[in-house]
Amino acid sequence: MVNKGIILAGGTGTRMSPLTKAVNKQLLPIYDKPLIFYPLSILMLSKIKNILIIVNKGQLDQYKKLIPNGNNLGINLTYAEQESPRGLPEAFILGENFIGNDNVALILGDNFFYGQGLTNVLIKSKKIKKGVKVILHKVIKPELYGVAKINYKNKILGIREKPKKYYSDLAITGLYYFDNKVVQYSKKLKVSKRNELEITDLLKKYLKRQEMTYELLGRGGAWLDTGSIEDFYKTSNFVAAIENRQGFKIACIEEIALNNKWIKKDKVINAIKFYGNCEYSKYLKKIISS
Ligand code: DAU
Repeated sequence: MVNKGIILAGGTGTRMSPLTKAVNKQLLPIYDKPLIFYPLSILMLSKIKNILIIVNKGQLDQYKKLIPNGNNLGINLTYAEQESPRGLPEAFILGENFIGNDNVALILGDNFFYGQGLTNVLIKSKKIKKGVKVILHKVIKPELYGVAKINYKNKILGIREKPKKYYSDLAITGLYYFDNKVVQYSKKLKVSKRNELEITDLLKKYLKRQEMTYELLGRGGAWLDTGSIEDFYKTSNFVAAIENRQGFKIACIEEIALNNKWIKKDKVINAIKFYGNCEYSKYLKKIISS
């Protein structure tokens, strides 16, 4: 079982400069709320209450203005800083004390998930006892992601990071459920040619021991990586289309906390005061009065 989760929300956001010169990418808006709300909502939908957010050195104050602590959400929230973007597995080295002897999920701060059956996939994935479980999703540009090749028996045959030549069209999304060995494995990794610790090298350690499994997020689900400005606007439009059609908000973290029975209405009232008079607060008022 996985009951702890890390959100890796650092990075330089170079591809989105000048937007990211003064503001961390994960604090920029996806339609009506900051990007960080979306990965946070995914961990909360996985019923994970112990959460570590890793941010860039020097940007902690910005995050604390937005989510000072986990009180209004009924979660245990801690922050850590990453000196420089030395690669995704560094999350487990920086998070060693937070992880302790437990299993841990990692979600990348710029990953967006939505769709029917998603919560089932999340709940199923967190049940791992041993090894790593990844979430695969079919994409038309696999060269942009880590990918996994599978066989007809649903076994993972191999994985590649951003393959230049076609290998598979199943992207390994930025949501991973690891057992506790991840800390030791991460410490043993060597930096790649681009001077980073690579998540694919970490996953290969599990694959070699036949301890890597997956869940498929099928065509009823959406996975969007908000790496570029264009992706940001596409994701924003997607959220706007759904929210304005259905009247439900995607990634309203207080609503999820309330549904999980982690908080009562009083915390939502606190949140309304905290956010002030805005559309998001109006939505919160609506959910507590219904
Ligand atoms: O989005 C899924 C993909 O994420 C996977 O398919 C790839 O296997 C994986 O390598 C990763 O690829 P990206 O090229 O998209 O990773 P990127 O360097 O853009 O970092 C993803 C997020 O993590 C981004 O929000 C910044 C943050 N980050 C990244 C690094 C390298 C950190 O906070 N610290 C870091 O050291």
